[in-house]
Amino acid sequence: MSRITVDGVTKRFGDTVALDNVSFDVPEGEFVIVMGVSGSGKSTLLRCMNGLESTTAGEVRVDDAPVTSPRDDIAMIFQQHNIIGQMTAYSNALTGSLNRNSFIASLLQLQDSTDKHQALEALETVGLLDEAQQRAGQMSGGQQQRVGIARALVQNPALLLADEPVASLDPGSSQQVMGYLRSVATDRGLSAIISLHQVNLARKFGERFIGLRDGQKVFDGYRDEFDLDVVDEIYGEIDTDGMFASETPADTDPTASGADAGDMVTDSEPQTETAADGGADKWAAKTASVTGTMR
Ligand SMILES: Nc1ncnc2c1ncn2[C@@H]1O[C@H](COP(=O)(O)OP(=O)(O)OP(=O)(O)O)[C@@H](O)[C@H]1O
Ligand SMILES: [Mg+2]
Repeated sequence: MSRITVDGVTKRFGDTVALDNVSFDVPEGEFVIVMGVSGSGKSTLLRCMNGLESTTAGEVRVDDAPVTSPRDDIAMIFQQHNIIGQMTAYSNALTGSLNRNSFIASLLQLQDSTDKHQALEALETVGLLDEAQQRAGQMSGGQQQRVGIARALVQNPALLLADEPVASLDPGSSQQVMGYLRSVATDRGLSAIISLHQVNLARKFGERFIGLRDGQKVFDGYRDEFDLDVVDEIYGEIDTDGMFASETPADTDPTASGADAGDMVTDSEPQTETAADGGADKWAAKTASVTGTMR
């Protein structure tokens, strides 16, 4: 549906260069993971991409139209779930239609039946239809993030941006949420651009990877090129301890947490190890070396 282009984007905050002449192009339907250490510019990039932040130089375009302010067709999912705890999962999902309705209509929940149907459908998509009437504040972090995804879907976006959507979740919930993101993007033909800290999650779910370092793009490639050397290039000499989500039963069996999202992803996702990246052993060794448990 939509192609997003980042064209020579530089963003300065005073003397800080948060983004330094970053360019790339995401065609329709790609699932892109943005990686980089804290302060490398991930959030700034995503905020420039959805018009929350203006660029100092360069521009972001969706289908050749410059992005200058937040738009309905670009949905953003945040690390902090940004949902309203006092409202039910359903009401939160329904707020995704806010921009299509007047403020008063939204306040009184006078959205038309299409919107209401969409909200329920979106909750079903993220496996929360049975919890539709539950207060969001009483839900787990993973469930709240899935409500956030449902709300984004009700917005009917062409592009899905997510800034560290699983940063505050445990490994099992992280897998589940990433699984839902990947499957909704695939099912709806949405491009998704997601920043992540955890290397193994990135590798499991990503299709294309963009690495930022000091605001510069230092890597842009697909799964077959995303190897351990690239990880070192993106993360440099820093201690990468903690960036690999710890191994849990859910890591080896995405369905172990009781979710069906893992199934959807397993079906569509090329998760098998290839000779090119050295296979599972090499990545396991890398994980162990950075966590200091093996060497
Ligand atoms: N509103 C702002 N005002 C001033 N400096 C900012 C602002 N937002 C970001 N920066 C600076 O820009 C740089 C990039 O920050 P950004 O938040 O994009 O990094 P990040 O990769 O998202 O980091 P993290 O992983 O910690 O979320 C940092 O040096 C940060 O201090
Ligand atoms: Mg950030």
